[in-house]
Amino acid sequence: MKKVYVGMSADLIHHGHLNIINQAKQYGEVIVGVLTDKAIASYKRLPALTYHQRKFIIEHIKGVSKVLPQETLDYVPNLRKIKPDYVIHGNDWKTGVQRETRQRVINALKEWGGKLIEIPYTPGISSTQLHKELHDIGTTPEIRMRKLRRLLEVKDMVRFMEAHNGISSLIVESTKVLKDNNTKEFDGVWISSLTDSTAKGKPDIELVERMDTLNHIVEATTKPIIVDGDTGGIPEHFVFTVKTLERLGISAIIIEDKIGLKKNSLFGTEVDQKQDSIKSFAYKISEGKKSQVTEDFMIIARIESLILKAGMKDALKRAQAYIAAGADGLMIHSKEKEPKEILEFCRHFSKFKKKVPLVVVPSTYSQIYEEELRKAGVNVVIYANHLLRSAYPAMLKAAESILMNERAYEASQEYCMSIKDILTLIPGGK
Ligand code: SPV
Ligand code: MG
Repeated sequence: MKKVYVGMSADLIHHGHLNIINQAKQYGEVIVGVLTDKAIASYKRLPALTYHQRKFIIEHIKGVSKVLPQETLDYVPNLRKIKPDYVIHGNDWKTGVQRETRQRVINALKEWGGKLIEIPYTPGISSTQLHKELHDIGTTPEIRMRKLRRLLEVKDMVRFMEAHNGISSLIVESTKVLKDNNTKEFDGVWISSLTDSTAKGKPDIELVERMDTLNHIVEATTKPIIVDGDTGGIPEHFVFTVKTLERLGISAIIIEDKIGLKKNSLFGTEVDQKQDSIKSFAYKISEGKKSQVTEDFMIIARIESLILKAGMKDALKRAQAYIAAGADGLMIHSKEKEPKEILEFCRHFSKFKKKVPLVVVPSTYSQIYEEELRKAGVNVVIYANHLLRSAYPAMLKAAESILMNERAYEASQEYCMSIKDILTLIPGGK
Protein backbone atom coordinates (compact mmCIF):
# COMPACT_ATOMS: atom_id res chain seq x y z
CA MET A 1 0.00 0.00 0.00
CA LYS A 2 1.36 3.43 -0.95
CA LYS A 3 1.63 6.09 1.75
CA VAL A 4 -0.23 9.38 1.29
CA TYR A 5 0.44 12.38 3.51
CA VAL A 6 -2.06 15.17 4.06
CA GLY A 7 -1.23 18.15 6.27
CA MET A 8 -4.09 20.22 7.61
CA SER A 9 -5.15 22.57 10.40
CA ALA A 10 -8.64 21.00 10.38
CA ASP A 11 -10.00 23.72 12.62
CA LEU A 12 -13.45 24.24 11.16
CA ILE A 13 -14.03 21.06 9.18
CA HIS A 14 -16.02 21.44 5.96
CA HIS A 15 -16.64 19.42 2.80
CA GLY A 16 -13.44 20.82 1.27
CA HIS A 17 -11.41 18.86 3.85
CA LEU A 18 -13.44 15.69 3.22
CA ASN A 19 -12.90 16.12 -0.50
CA ILE A 20 -9.12 16.16 0.04
CA ILE A 21 -9.24 13.06 2.24
CA ASN A 22 -11.46 11.22 -0.25
CA GLN A 23 -9.09 12.05 -3.07
CA ALA A 24 -6.08 11.03 -0.97
CA LYS A 25 -7.71 7.63 -0.34
CA GLN A 26 -7.52 6.86 -4.05
CA TYR A 27 -3.72 6.87 -3.84
CA GLY A 28 -3.18 4.69 -0.75
CA GLU A 29 -3.12 4.73 3.05
CA VAL A 30 -3.97 8.23 4.33
CA ILE A 31 -1.76 9.72 7.06
CA VAL A 32 -2.92 13.13 8.28
CA GLY A 33 -0.50 15.53 9.92
CA VAL A 34 -2.67 17.80 12.04
CA LEU A 35 -0.94 21.12 12.64
CA THR A 36 -0.39 21.76 16.35
CA ASP A 37 -1.72 24.95 17.96
CA LYS A 38 1.85 26.25 17.98
CA ALA A 39 2.32 25.57 14.26
CA ILE A 40 -0.93 27.38 13.39
CA ALA A 41 -0.29 30.31 15.73
CA SER A 42 3.14 30.75 14.11
CA TYR A 43 1.52 32.08 10.94
CA LYS A 44 -2.07 32.92 11.78
CA ARG A 45 -4.57 33.14 14.63
CA LEU A 46 -5.00 30.62 17.41
CA PRO A 47 -7.32 27.86 16.14
CA ALA A 48 -10.87 27.78 17.53
CA LEU A 49 -10.44 24.12 18.55
CA THR A 50 -7.44 22.75 20.44
CA TYR A 51 -5.03 20.27 18.84
CA HIS A 52 -6.55 17.35 20.76
CA GLN A 53 -10.08 18.26 19.68
CA ARG A 54 -8.99 18.57 16.04
CA LYS A 55 -7.02 15.32 16.17
CA PHE A 56 -10.04 13.54 17.66
CA ILE A 57 -12.26 14.71 14.79
CA ILE A 58 -9.82 13.72 12.05
CA GLU A 59 -9.18 10.29 13.59
CA HIS A 60 -12.87 9.53 13.21
CA ILE A 61 -13.13 10.43 9.54
CA LYS A 62 -13.59 7.43 7.28
CA GLY A 63 -10.51 6.68 5.23
CA VAL A 64 -7.97 8.20 7.62
CA SER A 65 -5.61 5.51 8.85
CA LYS A 66 -3.29 7.52 11.06
CA VAL A 67 -3.08 10.99 12.61
CA LEU A 68 0.07 12.57 13.94
CA PRO A 69 1.06 16.07 14.98
CA GLN A 70 2.70 18.37 12.47
CA GLU A 71 4.69 20.60 14.80
CA THR A 72 5.61 23.28 12.23
CA LEU A 73 4.04 24.94 9.23
CA ASP A 74 6.93 23.31 7.37
CA TYR A 75 6.00 19.76 6.27
CA VAL A 76 9.58 18.61 5.79
CA PRO A 77 10.29 17.17 9.29
CA ASN A 78 7.20 14.89 9.06
CA LEU A 79 7.84 14.04 5.41
CA ARG A 80 11.40 12.91 6.14
CA LYS A 81 10.08 10.68 8.93
CA ILE A 82 7.27 9.13 6.91
CA LYS A 83 8.70 9.27 3.38
CA PRO A 84 5.26 9.20 1.76
CA ASP A 85 4.78 8.29 -1.89
CA TYR A 86 2.35 11.17 -2.25
CA VAL A 87 1.50 14.47 -0.60
CA ILE A 88 -2.01 15.70 -1.37
CA HIS A 89 -2.89 19.37 -1.02
CA GLY A 90 -5.43 21.84 -2.39
CA ASN A 91 -4.03 23.98 -5.20
CA ASP A 92 -4.69 27.17 -3.23
CA TRP A 93 -1.21 27.27 -1.70
CA LYS A 94 0.68 28.22 -4.83
CA THR A 95 0.55 31.87 -3.77
CA GLY A 96 0.55 33.65 -0.42
CA VAL A 97 1.95 32.64 2.93
CA GLN A 98 2.28 28.91 2.04
CA ARG A 99 4.17 29.35 -1.23
CA GLU A 100 7.56 28.61 0.30
CA THR A 101 6.17 25.70 2.30
CA ARG A 102 4.94 24.18 -0.96
CA GLN A 103 8.35 24.54 -2.60
CA ARG A 104 10.02 22.82 0.35
CA VAL A 105 7.55 19.93 0.06
CA ILE A 106 8.39 19.50 -3.64
CA ASN A 107 12.13 19.54 -2.90
CA ALA A 108 11.88 17.08 -0.01
CA LEU A 109 9.73 14.60 -1.97
CA LYS A 110 12.43 14.48 -4.65
CA GLU A 111 14.80 12.91 -2.07
CA TRP A 112 12.90 9.57 -2.26
CA GLY A 113 10.94 9.99 -5.49
CA GLY A 114 7.64 11.07 -3.91
CA LYS A 115 5.09 13.19 -5.72
CA LEU A 116 2.95 16.22 -4.88
CA ILE A 117 -0.63 15.98 -6.10
CA GLU A 118 -2.62 19.18 -6.06
CA ILE A 119 -6.35 19.07 -6.33
CA PRO A 120 -8.60 22.00 -7.26
CA TYR A 121 -9.74 24.06 -4.30
CA THR A 122 -13.38 23.30 -3.48
CA PRO A 123 -15.34 26.34 -4.67
CA GLY A 124 -17.82 28.19 -2.48
CA ILE A 125 -16.15 27.50 0.86
CA SER A 126 -13.50 29.40 2.70
CA SER A 127 -12.15 28.83 6.20
CA THR A 128 -11.49 32.55 6.44
CA GLN A 129 -15.17 33.24 5.76
CA LEU A 130 -16.21 30.62 8.32
CA HIS A 131 -13.90 32.21 10.87
CA LYS A 132 -15.38 35.62 10.12
CA GLU A 133 -18.88 34.31 10.66
CA LEU A 134 -17.86 32.57 13.87
CA HIS A 135 -16.28 35.82 14.99
CA ASP A 136 -19.47 37.76 14.21
CA ILE A 137 -21.43 35.39 16.46
CA GLY A 138 -19.06 36.38 19.26
CA THR A 139 -17.51 34.39 22.05
CA THR A 140 -18.41 33.06 25.48
CA PRO A 141 -16.81 34.17 28.75
CA GLU A 142 -15.22 30.72 29.22
CA ILE A 143 -13.70 30.56 25.75
CA ARG A 144 -12.40 34.10 25.92
CA MET A 145 -10.92 33.72 29.39
CA ARG A 146 -9.04 30.54 28.44
CA LYS A 147 -7.56 32.16 25.33
CA LEU A 148 -4.76 33.93 27.17
CA ARG A 149 -3.48 30.71 28.73
CA ARG A 150 -3.77 28.97 25.36
CA LEU A 151 -1.84 31.77 23.67
CA LEU A 152 0.91 31.63 26.28
CA GLU A 153 1.20 27.89 25.76
CA VAL A 154 1.83 28.21 22.03
CA LYS A 155 3.52 31.57 21.52
CA ASP A 156 6.79 32.75 23.02
CA MET A 157 5.39 36.25 23.27
CA VAL A 158 2.02 37.93 22.80
CA ARG A 159 1.20 41.59 22.27
CA PHE A 160 -1.63 43.49 23.94
CA MET A 161 -2.87 46.94 23.03
CA GLU A 162 -4.73 49.37 25.26
CA ALA A 163 -8.37 50.26 24.74
CA HIS A 164 -10.40 52.76 26.73
CA ASN A 165 -13.81 52.55 25.07
CA GLY A 166 -15.80 50.56 22.50
CA ILE A 167 -14.30 52.10 19.40
CA SER A 168 -10.67 51.87 20.48
CA SER A 169 -11.31 48.23 21.42
CA LEU A 170 -12.64 47.60 17.91
CA ILE A 171 -9.32 48.85 16.56
CA VAL A 172 -7.47 46.38 18.80
CA GLU A 173 -9.86 43.63 17.75
CA SER A 174 -9.65 44.07 14.00
CA THR A 175 -6.50 45.91 12.93
CA LYS A 176 -4.35 43.66 10.76
CA VAL A 177 -1.25 44.31 8.69
CA LEU A 178 0.46 42.05 6.20
CA LYS A 179 4.22 41.84 6.77
CA ASP A 180 6.63 39.29 5.30
CA ASN A 181 3.69 37.15 4.14
CA ASN A 182 2.34 37.02 7.69
CA THR A 183 -0.80 38.67 8.96
CA LYS A 184 0.04 40.51 12.16
CA GLU A 185 -2.49 41.60 14.74
CA PHE A 186 -2.83 42.26 18.46
CA ASP A 187 -3.43 39.19 20.60
CA GLY A 188 -5.60 40.94 23.13
CA VAL A 189 -6.82 44.07 24.89
CA TRP A 190 -5.26 45.90 27.84
CA ILE A 191 -7.70 47.94 29.90
CA SER A 192 -5.39 50.62 31.19
CA SER A 193 -6.24 52.59 34.32
CA LEU A 194 -4.35 55.56 32.86
CA THR A 195 -6.25 55.76 29.59
CA ASP A 196 -9.61 54.76 31.11
CA SER A 197 -9.23 57.57 33.67
CA THR A 198 -7.87 60.08 31.14
CA ALA A 199 -10.70 59.37 28.69
CA LYS A 200 -13.10 60.24 31.51
CA GLY A 201 -11.20 63.43 32.31
CA LYS A 202 -9.99 62.12 35.67
CA PRO A 203 -6.56 61.50 37.23
CA ASP A 204 -5.20 57.94 37.41
CA ILE A 205 -5.71 57.51 41.17
CA GLU A 206 -8.17 54.59 41.44
CA LEU A 207 -10.97 57.13 41.22
CA VAL A 208 -12.97 56.13 38.16
CA GLU A 209 -15.49 53.34 38.08
CA ARG A 210 -14.11 50.79 35.60
CA MET A 211 -16.96 48.39 34.99
CA ASP A 212 -18.76 50.60 32.51
CA THR A 213 -15.76 50.78 30.16
CA LEU A 214 -15.13 47.10 30.65
CA ASN A 215 -18.69 46.17 29.68
CA HIS A 216 -18.49 48.18 26.45
CA ILE A 217 -15.20 46.54 25.52
CA VAL A 218 -16.41 43.03 26.36
CA GLU A 219 -19.39 43.59 24.07
CA ALA A 220 -17.34 44.94 21.17
CA THR A 221 -14.56 42.31 21.13
CA THR A 222 -13.74 38.60 21.26
CA LYS A 223 -10.01 38.77 22.03
CA PRO A 224 -8.66 38.02 25.52
CA ILE A 225 -8.61 40.93 27.96
CA ILE A 226 -6.12 41.85 30.67
CA VAL A 227 -7.41 44.35 33.20
CA ASP A 228 -5.19 46.85 34.94
CA GLY A 229 -6.44 46.39 38.51
CA ASP A 230 -4.33 49.19 40.06
CA THR A 231 -3.50 48.09 43.63
CA GLY A 232 -6.43 45.68 43.73
CA GLY A 233 -7.74 47.55 46.78
CA ILE A 234 -7.86 45.88 50.18
CA PRO A 235 -7.81 42.05 50.08
CA GLU A 236 -11.42 41.91 51.30
CA HIS A 237 -12.48 43.88 48.21
CA PHE A 238 -10.04 42.25 45.81
CA VAL A 239 -11.62 38.81 46.21
CA PHE A 240 -14.90 40.22 44.90
CA THR A 241 -13.19 41.90 41.94
CA VAL A 242 -11.66 38.55 40.95
CA LYS A 243 -15.07 36.89 40.83
CA THR A 244 -16.64 39.79 38.93
CA LEU A 245 -13.93 39.67 36.27
CA GLU A 246 -14.19 35.89 35.96
CA ARG A 247 -17.91 36.21 35.33
CA LEU A 248 -17.19 38.61 32.47
CA GLY A 249 -14.65 36.26 30.88
CA ILE A 250 -11.62 38.50 31.57
CA SER A 251 -8.39 36.48 31.30
CA ALA A 252 -6.22 38.25 33.83
CA ILE A 253 -5.89 41.10 36.29
CA ILE A 254 -2.59 42.81 37.01
CA ILE A 255 -2.28 44.34 40.48
CA GLU A 256 0.60 46.53 41.55
CA ASP A 257 2.39 46.38 44.88
CA LYS A 258 1.60 49.90 46.00
CA ILE A 259 -0.44 51.02 48.97
CA GLY A 260 -2.31 54.18 49.94
CA LEU A 261 -3.23 56.78 47.35
CA LYS A 262 -2.03 55.29 44.07
CA LYS A 263 -0.45 57.59 41.53
CA ASN A 264 0.56 56.68 37.99
CA SER A 265 3.88 54.83 37.89
CA LEU A 266 5.30 57.06 35.19
CA PHE A 267 5.50 59.88 37.78
CA GLY A 268 8.06 57.67 39.54
CA THR A 269 9.51 59.31 42.66
CA GLU A 270 8.30 62.80 41.61
CA VAL A 271 5.15 62.17 43.62
CA ASP A 272 4.52 60.54 46.95
CA GLN A 273 3.90 56.84 46.31
CA LYS A 274 4.40 53.99 48.71
CA GLN A 275 5.20 50.35 48.02
CA ASP A 276 3.28 47.70 49.94
CA SER A 277 5.22 45.27 52.17
CA ILE A 278 6.04 41.92 50.59
CA LYS A 279 4.03 40.13 53.24
CA SER A 280 0.88 42.15 52.81
CA PHE A 281 0.95 42.05 48.98
CA ALA A 282 1.67 38.32 48.94
CA TYR A 283 -1.35 37.87 51.22
CA LYS A 284 -3.53 39.80 48.74
CA ILE A 285 -2.34 37.56 45.89
CA SER A 286 -3.04 34.37 47.82
CA GLU A 287 -6.48 35.55 48.93
CA GLY A 288 -7.28 36.39 45.30
CA LYS A 289 -6.14 32.96 44.14
CA LYS A 290 -8.26 31.26 46.79
CA SER A 291 -11.34 33.17 45.71
CA GLN A 292 -11.17 32.13 42.04
CA VAL A 293 -14.07 30.13 40.69
CA THR A 294 -12.27 29.04 37.50
CA GLU A 295 -8.83 27.57 36.90
CA ASP A 296 -8.18 29.75 33.89
CA PHE A 297 -8.25 33.24 35.39
CA MET A 298 -4.80 34.69 36.06
CA ILE A 299 -3.63 37.04 38.79
CA ILE A 300 -0.47 38.83 37.71
CA ALA A 301 1.67 40.63 40.28
CA ARG A 302 3.23 43.92 39.24
CA ILE A 303 6.50 44.93 40.83
CA GLU A 304 7.08 48.65 41.34
CA SER A 305 10.57 48.46 42.86
CA LEU A 306 12.33 49.92 39.82
CA ILE A 307 9.73 52.70 39.50
CA LEU A 308 10.18 53.64 43.17
CA LYS A 309 14.00 53.27 43.10
CA ALA A 310 14.00 50.43 45.61
CA GLY A 311 16.58 48.60 43.50
CA MET A 312 17.01 45.42 41.49
CA LYS A 313 17.59 43.26 44.55
CA ASP A 314 14.24 44.29 46.00
CA ALA A 315 12.53 43.67 42.64
CA LEU A 316 13.94 40.14 42.46
CA LYS A 317 13.12 39.35 46.06
CA ARG A 318 9.53 40.43 45.47
CA ALA A 319 9.37 38.42 42.23
CA GLN A 320 10.28 35.24 44.17
CA ALA A 321 7.84 36.01 46.96
CA TYR A 322 4.92 36.78 44.65
CA ILE A 323 5.47 33.58 42.67
CA ALA A 324 5.55 31.67 45.95
CA ALA A 325 2.27 33.34 46.94
CA GLY A 326 0.64 31.93 43.81
CA ALA A 327 0.93 34.72 41.23
CA ASP A 328 0.23 33.37 37.73
CA GLY A 329 2.49 35.95 36.15
CA LEU A 330 4.76 38.90 36.95
CA MET A 331 4.89 42.36 35.50
CA ILE A 332 8.08 44.33 35.90
CA HIS A 333 7.72 48.03 35.25
CA SER A 334 10.27 50.74 34.53
CA LYS A 335 10.11 54.40 33.58
CA GLU A 336 13.67 54.65 32.36
CA LYS A 337 14.34 55.93 28.86
CA GLU A 338 16.55 52.93 28.17
CA PRO A 339 15.54 49.27 28.56
CA LYS A 340 18.73 48.47 30.52
CA GLU A 341 17.17 47.73 33.92
CA ILE A 342 14.31 45.73 32.37
CA LEU A 343 16.78 43.57 30.46
CA GLU A 344 18.84 43.14 33.62
CA PHE A 345 15.73 41.96 35.47
CA CYS A 346 15.03 39.54 32.61
CA ARG A 347 18.53 38.10 32.85
CA HIS A 348 18.10 37.35 36.56
CA PHE A 349 14.54 36.11 36.04
CA SER A 350 15.68 33.63 33.39
CA LYS A 351 17.65 31.83 36.12
CA PHE A 352 14.64 31.42 38.43
CA LYS A 353 13.77 27.79 39.19
CA LYS A 354 10.05 28.47 39.16
CA LYS A 355 9.01 30.75 36.33
CA VAL A 356 5.70 32.36 35.39
CA PRO A 357 4.83 34.45 32.31
CA LEU A 358 6.63 37.80 32.36
CA VAL A 359 4.90 41.05 31.33
CA VAL A 360 6.49 44.36 30.39
CA VAL A 361 5.14 47.77 29.38
CA PRO A 362 7.62 49.59 27.14
CA SER A 363 6.12 53.08 27.30
CA THR A 364 9.24 55.12 28.14
CA TYR A 365 11.77 52.72 26.57
CA SER A 366 9.65 52.40 23.44
CA GLN A 367 12.65 52.09 21.11
CA ILE A 368 12.98 48.41 21.99
CA TYR A 369 11.75 45.91 19.39
CA GLU A 370 9.44 43.04 20.26
CA GLU A 371 12.10 40.59 19.09
CA GLU A 372 14.61 41.87 21.67
CA LEU A 373 12.03 41.49 24.43
CA ARG A 374 11.13 38.01 23.23
CA LYS A 375 14.79 36.99 23.27
CA ALA A 376 15.10 38.36 26.80
CA GLY A 377 12.30 36.00 27.90
CA VAL A 378 9.35 38.41 27.98
CA ASN A 379 6.01 36.68 27.36
CA VAL A 380 3.56 39.59 27.22
CA VAL A 381 4.26 43.04 25.84
CA ILE A 382 1.65 45.69 26.56
CA TYR A 383 1.29 48.88 24.54
CA ALA A 384 -0.40 50.64 27.41
CA ASN A 385 -1.61 54.02 26.17
CA HIS A 386 -0.96 54.50 22.47
CA LEU A 387 -4.48 54.67 21.05
CA LEU A 388 -5.52 57.40 23.45
CA ARG A 389 -2.27 59.30 23.02
CA SER A 390 -2.62 59.21 19.24
CA ALA A 391 -6.32 60.16 19.18
CA TYR A 392 -5.98 63.22 21.39
CA PRO A 393 -3.63 65.27 19.14
CA ALA A 394 -5.98 64.72 16.16
CA MET A 395 -8.96 65.91 18.21
CA LEU A 396 -7.04 68.94 19.43
CA LYS A 397 -6.06 69.90 15.87
CA ALA A 398 -9.67 69.63 14.66
CA ALA A 399 -10.87 71.81 17.56
CA GLU A 400 -8.18 74.46 16.90
CA SER A 401 -8.86 74.44 13.18
CA ILE A 402 -12.58 75.17 13.70
CA LEU A 403 -11.77 78.06 16.06
CA MET A 404 -9.17 79.48 13.67
CA ASN A 405 -11.21 79.17 10.47
CA GLU A 406 -14.57 79.96 12.02
CA ARG A 407 -16.03 77.05 10.08
CA ALA A 408 -15.68 73.25 9.99
CA TYR A 409 -14.65 72.82 6.35
CA GLU A 410 -10.85 72.72 6.91
CA ALA A 411 -11.08 70.41 9.90
CA SER A 412 -13.42 68.07 7.97
CA GLN A 413 -11.01 67.92 5.07
CA GLU A 414 -7.80 67.52 7.04
CA TYR A 415 -8.51 65.79 10.31
CA CYS A 416 -11.83 63.97 10.02
CA MET A 417 -13.09 60.76 8.51
CA SER A 418 -16.10 61.15 6.22
CA ILE A 419 -19.64 61.19 7.58
CA LYS A 420 -20.38 58.13 5.44
CA ASP A 421 -17.42 56.28 6.94
CA ILE A 422 -18.42 57.01 10.50
CA LEU A 423 -22.01 55.99 9.84
CA THR A 424 -20.89 52.62 8.54
CA LEU A 425 -17.84 52.11 10.73
CA ILE A 426 -19.61 49.99 13.31
CA PRO A 427 -21.10 46.73 12.07
CA GLY A 428 -24.90 46.81 12.26
CA GLY A 429 -24.96 50.62 12.15
CA LYS A 430 -26.92 50.88 8.93
C1 SPV B 1 -1.70 51.84 32.79
O1 SPV B 1 -1.74 51.70 31.55
O2 SPV B 1 -2.59 52.38 33.43
C2 SPV B 1 -0.57 51.33 33.55
C3 SPV B 1 0.76 51.34 32.95
O3 SPV B 1 -0.75 51.00 34.70
S1 SPV B 1 1.50 52.83 33.42
O4 SPV B 1 0.65 53.91 32.99
O5 SPV B 1 2.81 52.89 32.79
O6 SPV B 1 1.64 52.83 34.87
MG1 MG C 1 -2.50 51.74 35.54
